[in-house]
Amino acid sequence: MKNNCGWLKKRPVPGPGSDLATWSDRHSQIFGLEPHDVKHSWSSFVHLVDPEDRARVQLAILTALKPHGALEVEYRINRPDGRARWVMSKGRTYCDSAGEPMRMVGLTMDITERKQLEHDLLKTQSDLARVSRLLTLGELTSSIAHEVNQPLVAVVTNGDACMRWLTAEPPKLDKVRESLVWIVKEGKRAGEIIKRIRELAKNKAPQKTELMINDVITEVINLAGSELSNNQVTLRTEFASDLPTVCGDRVQLQQVILNLIANAIDAMKSIHQHPRELSISSRATDDGQILITVRDCGMGVEPNILENVFKAFFTTKKEGMGLGLSISRTIVEAHGGRMWALSNNDQGATFQFTLPMVAGAHA
Ligand SMILES: Nc1ncnc2c1ncn2[C@@H]1O[C@H](COP(=O)(O)OP(=O)(O)O)[C@@H](O)[C@H]1O
Ligand SMILES: [Mg+2]
Repeated sequence: MKNNCGWLKKRPVPGPGSDLATWSDRHSQIFGLEPHDVKHSWSSFVHLVDPEDRARVQLAILTALKPHGALEVEYRINRPDGRARWVMSKGRTYCDSAGEPMRMVGLTMDITERKQLEHDLLKTQSDLARVSRLLTLGELTSSIAHEVNQPLVAVVTNGDACMRWLTAEPPKLDKVRESLVWIVKEGKRAGEIIKRIRELAKNKAPQKTELMINDVITEVINLAGSELSNNQVTLRTEFASDLPTVCGDRVQLQQVILNLIANAIDAMKSIHQHPRELSISSRATDDGQILITVRDCGMGVEPNILENVFKAFFTTKKEGMGLGLSISRTIVEAHGGRMWALSNNDQGATFQFTLPMVAGAHA
C-alpha cells in the first residue's frame, strides 16, 4: 500500500509542541486507523511508532523542523489491529514569511514488503557466504589438519620426555617443568587453531570490533601454511608495523583473505617454469585507508575480464563455485572499503582491497 499525505504542524513550532496533525484517509489506513478514529495529534502518532524506533523518529522530525528542513525516515509501527508494519515517511518543512517554520507536509509509504525482501536477501547472502567459506575451508582441510597435528605431536613428544625425566634417578624435575611448560603452550596452540576454525565454520551474525589487520592476515596464513608449502609456494609478507586499527568482523575479513590465498594457490598450480611466489602486504594510504595487497605469479587474469571475476558464479575452474570474489567484494564494501584486481606486467595477478582506518586509532 502506498501513500499518502501527512502532518500539518501549525505554530507554535518547532516540535511537537503544537500537537496538531492532519492525516489523509490513506495515511490513516496505513496506520491501521479508521479515518474517524484519527486523533489529529502528534502524540497519537508517536504512540503508534514502535517503542524501539520512537526516539529516532522524533529526533528525525525535530531535526527536519527548520527552514527548508527535509525528513526521510524509516521505522516500524504497531497498528491497533496488532499488525506490525515498516513505513517510510518523507516530509518538508514550510516557513512563514518571517522564515519561521510553520508546518511540515509529508507522506508515508508502507515498505514492509521491501524490508522483508531486504531481510531475506541479507539472509541468503549470509548463507551463501558461509557455504563459500566452508568450501574454501574444505580445500584447506589437509593444511588445517597439519596445523592442528603439529602442536599435538609436540605435546606427545614432551609427554614422553616428562615420563623419562620423572623415572630418572634422581628425577630431573627442572626438565619435567620445562616439558610441562611446552605441553601447556602447544596444547593452547592446538586449542586456538580449533577455535578459529570453529568460528569460521559457525553461522554467526557479523560482529564488528576493532581489529589489527596484520593479526587477522597472520591467523589466516597460519591456517594455510602447509597448503602453501605442499604446493611449493614461497610466501613473502610485508606488513607495515604501525598500522591503525580497522573496524570489522574478524571472520568475514578472514574469509576474504582466505579466498585470495586459495585463489592464488590455484592460479600458481599450473606454473612450473619459475618459482611460485605469493606476497601479501599491508600499508596505510594517504587518504585514511589501509591497503591490503595479495600478489601472485600464477596464470594471471586477462585485462578484459578483470571485472568479471567479481561476478557471482564466474569461474574458470572445473570445481569452482565462482562465489569467492563476489562475496569478498560484498564483505569489503560492507566494511566501507573497495576491492579490485590488477593484471601484473610480468606474471600473475594482484588483488587489492582497502578498509577505512578507525578514526584516531593508533597501532
Ligand atoms: N589469483 C588469481 N589469478 C588468476 N585468476 C584468478 C585469481 N583469482 C581469481 N581468479 C579468477 O576468478 C575466478 C573467480 O574466483 P572466485 O570468485 O574465487 O571463484 P572460484 O575460486 O570458485 O572460481 C576464478 O575462477 C579465476 O578464473
Ligand atoms: Mg575462490
